[in-house]
Amino acid sequence: MSRLLRRVLTSAHTHRNFKPAALHRSLWPAASLPDSDGPAFAVKLTMEPKLYQPPPGVRGMTSLDKEAFTQTITVPALRVPTGVLNKVIKSLRKSTIQRPGMTRVLHDTEDNGEFRLVLLDPHRVSSTSSFSEAEAEALRSFDVAEELQSHELLLTYDNLKSEEVLEAVLPLGQDVTSGFSRVGHIAHMNLRDHQLPYKNLIGQVIMDKNPGVTCVVNKTNIIDSTYRNFKMEVLAGEENMVAKVKENGVMYEFDFSRVYWNSRLSTEHQRVVQLTKRGDTVFDVFAGVGPFAVPAARSGANVWANDLNPESYRWLQHNCKINKVDGKVRTFNMDGRAFIQGPVKQELPALLKGKGSIHVVMNLPALALEFLDAFRGLLHHEPPCDENLPTVYCYGFSKEDSPDTDVVNRASRSLGFPLENRCSVHFVRNVAPNKDMMCVRFTLPKEVLFSSNDEQTEPSVEPAPKRQKCMETTDSI
Ligand SMILES: C[S@@+](CC[C@H](N)C(=O)[O-])C[C@H]1O[C@@H](n2cnc3c(N)ncnc32)[C@H](O)[C@@H]1O
Repeated sequence: MSRLLRRVLTSAHTHRNFKPAALHRSLWPAASLPDSDGPAFAVKLTMEPKLYQPPPGVRGMTSLDKEAFTQTITVPALRVPTGVLNKVIKSLRKSTIQRPGMTRVLHDTEDNGEFRLVLLDPHRVSSTSSFSEAEAEALRSFDVAEELQSHELLLTYDNLKSEEVLEAVLPLGQDVTSGFSRVGHIAHMNLRDHQLPYKNLIGQVIMDKNPGVTCVVNKTNIIDSTYRNFKMEVLAGEENMVAKVKENGVMYEFDFSRVYWNSRLSTEHQRVVQLTKRGDTVFDVFAGVGPFAVPAARSGANVWANDLNPESYRWLQHNCKINKVDGKVRTFNMDGRAFIQGPVKQELPALLKGKGSIHVVMNLPALALEFLDAFRGLLHHEPPCDENLPTVYCYGFSKEDSPDTDVVNRASRSLGFPLENRCSVHFVRNVAPNKDMMCVRFTLPKEVLFSSNDEQTEPSVEPAPKRQKCMETTDSI
């Protein structure tokens, strides 16, 4: 019996409860094997593209049976003297096997600790000629025999990536999206209809494969409630919906199932907060749990923050406390229009005479543009100069071909004043195919703030051309 075959047989793990059907043949040409002298290794080289594919029996599984993923595969290995092991691994780092939860260095059972077996990636190494010039040179310099060993390896559920598990389980030919967004310990998914029969298995796999995720939820409806939160179903893990999240260095806590939170807005929160300075005043009309209000207060602004959702209001207050800015943020739980026509109206006259800049943030993209009419004729006594008029940051969704023009037109109509050439428009993000989130920034015109409603004239604005409509996703928030 050849030395190699003997080695395979002695080093192979013995497993009683799995079918050897998935056992792979030799992955390198018989000619390149060290001392191939029998038919056992005279197998033609075929590079197996799906070497790590789980056994076919797992297809259609709806309740996770981890054992069913266990199989044995054969991988190439190098016998490396223990003294140069670390150097060899460093030199071969592109060629060694890299699987989740798998060790690539094994004791060589035939030696007394003088050698180790370094497992190689069968996708990269099929014969010794697969080594790059630099790798081959390193092996020579460390006196490592360029002979490939064959090693039988137990591949388990723990060694598979989530996509590999889900691709093997879900129906062939159907989309396997294992994507999710993460909010603290919660992974939230947006499963399609064909994935629903597998929802609990998918949840379990996502939890197993992502350290720190202890709860997986599926959004069960398109966001449509006033408070912009989703209905959610727990697919796997604990039913604890209170998330702790750090955004731009600030901690937030909130019940993710009852308030609005979107980690994809962190850059936008930072962009706007950076435009505020110590001593400025910020009115946050749709504040949520505080991702504009809290950091603005931390950088020295005086903040007036409002949200209609009593849960958001509660967590907003909590976040002000844990970030020690409760003395800088006044919180309100009312409709945005009432907030503008109440606390904002009350504070503005004194602030307009002051030095600090005034900012009004309106992040409710589905509706905020329509709230701008609340500023029409808000104040009666025009100040002597208009240097310190508030800057408004108003968000809007657009499905038009020219979203910039669209949001400016809508803001102008709502204000009753043409904003064209008097504002800037910032593209925030694409929320769905053909649907963009935009931010219109402008100085609130004194003609709007101090007009009487009778004086209002509708601005003449051309409607923006329509874009071809298509399906929205639940990301359309
Ligand atoms: C898109 S979220 C934005 C929250 C926060 N500003 C952020 O950036 O994460 C809009 C918020 O407006 C609140 N809201 C919805 N309708 C409102 C209204 N009529 N008046 C005040 N707040 C409202 C919702 O509860 C939600 O927290």
